[in-house]
Formats: sequence, structure tokens, C-alpha cells
Amino acid sequence: MRVLLAGATGTIGSALVPRLLAAGHEVLGLTRSDGGARRLAAAGAEPVRAGIMDADELLTALDGRAADAVIHQATSITGMPMFHRSLYATDALREQGTANLLRAAALVGARRFVTQSFYLGYGYRDLGTEPVTEDRPFAALTGHRGTDRHMRSLRANEEQVLGTPGIDGIALRYGMFYGPEPMTRQLADQVRRGLLPVFRPSGITSPIHIHDAAAAAVAALERGRPGQAYNICDDEPVEFASYLRALAASVGAAPPRALPAWVLSVAPYLKAFMVTSRIRLSNAKAERELGWRPDYPSIHEGLRTL
Ligand SMILES: NC(=O)c1ccc[n+]([C@@H]2O[C@H](COP(=O)([O-])OP(=O)(O)OC[C@H]3O[C@@H](n4cnc5c(N)ncnc54)[C@H](OP(=O)(O)O)[C@@H]3O)[C@@H](O)[C@H]2O)c1
Repeated sequence: MRVLLAGATGTIGSALVPRLLAAGHEVLGLTRSDGGARRLAAAGAEPVRAGIMDADELLTALDGRAADAVIHQATSITGMPMFHRSLYATDALREQGTANLLRAAALVGARRFVTQSFYLGYGYRDLGTEPVTEDRPFAALTGHRGTDRHMRSLRANEEQVLGTPGIDGIALRYGMFYGPEPMTRQLADQVRRGLLPVFRPSGITSPIHIHDAAAAAVAALERGRPGQAYNICDDEPVEFASYLRALAASVGAAPPRALPAWVLSVAPYLKAFMVTSRIRLSNAKAERELGWRPDYPSIHEGLRTL
């Protein structure tokens, strides 16, 4: 397939471009920068210079081009998000950015559309001990301004992609990315310097190695069922405290000290993510329907790739 890829230069896009090409697809990679365009061309993709927040710019850059599918992997997260506002640009990419990319899909004649979603759409809360499947609806709004804004954008992203007539839409509800990628490197650096404690009590996350996340996007492009969402995570949900201890061990750092979770009240997003959320995601549907399995079934295998 000829694939228009938004976020082609990013963390996941950089892992995805070579996989798409190796699977025999062609890639039209969106980027806003000259450097991004050079990197995409060097990787074997065809660069297209445009952002996705400006519909006119996007549609003008794509005028006269054709594609069979669109993959939306654009996010805008700089460093570990501490505050809710750290996510607002990404929220916008999931609402307006997705709307603009759907217009782009119509322009280039693409019918298939795979979008990046996020497991915290199920809610920044404790979902108990049972595996969370795609049958569980995304959480209702709670009246909290910050989390409600993220929830609205996660919903808007999926509703647009799964509900647009004439579009075969698929949403990938990724767990927490880790691996040879910026956020993991930043955490590893902080753990090494003794700057990042673990918090008690600890939340539970469902990790996904960045290479497995990219492989799932290729599988969804080729085999995903239109109108479906898939949880994409490894086989072992893990406490954040255990993750940070394993990360410390993998980079030869001393075990992080433990601090009470209330200390994190100064960083409300981080607290909602690392303390309040306890989500054990099930990847059974993705394995069953996409023919995909994580190469790194837990962080214990995945952290060796750092
Ligand atoms: N599930 C998760 O845990 C999760 C999800 C997302 C991100 N993260 C983490 O957050 C960190 C940062 O990742 P990231 O992907 O946000 O940043 P990134 O790696 O810097 O990549 C952002 C990508 O989105 C594109 N982009 C941003 N704004 C755009 C716009 N207005 N129009 C078109 N494209 C746009 C960028 O393209 P150009 O700059 O080339 O235009 C780039 O390709 C990483 O460590 C990542 O693992 C984690």
C-alpha cells in the first residue's frame, strides 16, 4: 500500500518507516522541517513538507498525490509530562489534527486509516485486577479540567476515525512506550543520577516496547478490522515502582529510593499517570485478530535493548 504517515519522524514513526518499507509498502512521510525531510528521504520514504494542524497547508502540500492509507502517529510530548498542559498540544493533534488528516485522506483517495490512541482513555483511575479489554468503554468525564480535556480528545480521535463513512478506521490503544527512545532515556538518566524516586503507593501500567508498537501498526494496516480498536501492550502489566527499579538495574544504577505519593501533588499529570492509574490491559484481541505478538513479552526482555 502507499501510506501517508503523520508523525513519520517521531519516536514511533522512526521505527515504523523501515518496517513499512520492509513489508513492501511505500511511505509518504509528513514533516514540518527540512531536517525531517532529509531524514525521511535517507530512510527511503517520500517526504511531504506540512503540518497537520493547518488544513490549508496540509491539503495544498498533498494536492495531486495519491495514497491508499493514512497512519496518524503524530504527538507532541516534550519530556516526561508533569502538568496537564504538557498534553494540550497532543490533545489538539488528536482532535483537529485527526479531522484535518481525514480531509487529507479524502483528497489523496485513501480509504484505510489507522490512528494512535492511548490506554488512559479507559480513565486515569484504578480499574482493578481484571484485564481491561476493548469492550470496556472509554471513561466518562469526571469534571476535572485537565483529565477531561485529554479524555475528550482521545474520544474525538477514535470517534472520527472509526465513525467517518467511507473510511475503514482502526484505533491502536497503545500502552506506555518504552525502549530505545527519548522518554525512556530521560527516565534512565534521572534514575542514574538519583533524581527519580519511586512513589508509594504505585500505579500500574501496561508497557509496550517501541519496536512492538511499530510492528502492531503494520499489522493493523494490513489486517485490522475496520471500525475496531485494539489494545497494544505486552503480556505483563507492571507497577511503576517495579518498572523504575528494573530500569535502574538495567542501566547499572542504584535502586531508586521510595517517597510517599503525595509528594507528586506538585506534578498533577505525573501523579495521575504514575500513581492514580492502575490499568492491566489485555492484548488478546490484537493477538487474535492482527496476527501480532510482542517480541518483548515483558519489560524484563525489553529493557535489555536499551
Ligand atoms: N503511548 C505512549 O506511551 C506515548 C505516546 C506518545 C508519545 N510518547 C512519548 O513521548 C515522547 C515524545 O514522543 P512524540 O512522538 O510526542 O515526539 P517526537 O518523537 O518528537 O515526534 C513527534 C512526531 O509528531 C510530528 N508532529 C508533531 N506536531 C505535528 C504537527 N503539528 N503536524 C504534523 N506532525 C506533527 C512530528 O513531526 P515533525 O516534527 O517532523 O514535523 C514528529 O514526527 C517519546 O519518548 C514517546 O515515547 C509516549
